[in-house]
Amino acid sequence: MERFATRSRDHYKGTNINIEVKIGLHDLTPARIATLYRRAPLQRPVEDHTALWRMFEQSSLVVTAWVQGRLVGLARVLSDGVLNTYICDFAVEPDVQGLGIGRMLLEKVRENFKGTQIYLYDAKTTSRFYAKMGFLNMKEGLWKWQ
Ligand SMILES: CC(C)(COP(=O)(O)OP(=O)(O)OC[C@H]1O[C@@H](n2cnc3c(N)ncnc32)[C@H](O)[C@@H]1OP(=O)(O)O)[C@@H](O)C(=O)NCCC(=O)NCCS
Repeated sequence: MERFATRSRDHYKGTNINIEVKIGLHDLTPARIATLYRRAPLQRPVEDHTALWRMFEQSSLVVTAWVQGRLVGLARVLSDGVLNTYICDFAVEPDVQGLGIGRMLLEKVRENFKGTQIYLYDAKTTSRFYAKMGFLNMKEGLWKWQ
């Protein structure tokens, strides 16, 4: 586990926020994940805790951020470790967005999968964040729902 401090926002008036960073499924529960995803918001099967947990168990890497025991952010990743890394889920609690947690989670993903290409789907509201983090739009790409 690592810790870093960041500047406070109104919600935490007058306090320094200490962020704990964890790698893996430590202290995660489907309920905690569902709460974060509802609030971020991130559209995922939050009602089906079995499916949600399976998504996490099958992942290559999960990085989480915590404030005072509360899950405030996470990145969930699938990677082959050589060529391709796909960020499946990426979310930060609204009351601590803009404090550098997203950047830090992304750095952890990069550290763990150096030398691979990182892909993700973005939302219109987050494309400027990803551009700031150095991501480029892909022109080619195909997909099929099944
Ligand atoms: C996208 C998200 C993960 C970013 O996390 P965050 O902790 O707020 O990001 P950071 O604080 O590390 O931001 C890093 C930089 O990007 C900027 N930034 C963050 N979100 C932004 C946004 N939506 N639009 C434009 N800039 C943004 C920050 O201001 C900061 O800029 P600075 O370095 O000049 O100060 C978070 O906003 C989120 O969870 N959004 C809702 C869920 C979601 O859409 N997830 C992604 C699905 S693709």
